[in-house]
Amino acid sequence: MAQSSAGVLVAATQTCTHEPKKQIIFNKTEFYCTDHGARFSLTGSPLNTITRKALTVYKVATDGNTVVVY
Ligand code: FES
Repeated sequence: MAQSSAGVLVAATQTCTHEPKKQIIFNKTEFYCTDHGARFSLTGSPLNTITRKALTVYKVATDGNTVVVY
């Protein structure tokens, strides 16, 4: 889970859709795979041609005290 530059809480799987490697990191405004460089939007859409498969992203809710990822 991370906070986007717009202040929105976001969460995604660490497992890439290119190959099942747990290399996904958050990179300021997008999710990024450190293995071969696949990039994904905050909604999981692929941003380059390394993979066409969307990244699994999760919903995040908060009431200011508790954060729920689902
Ligand atoms: S395993 Fe993520 S880009 Fe290849």
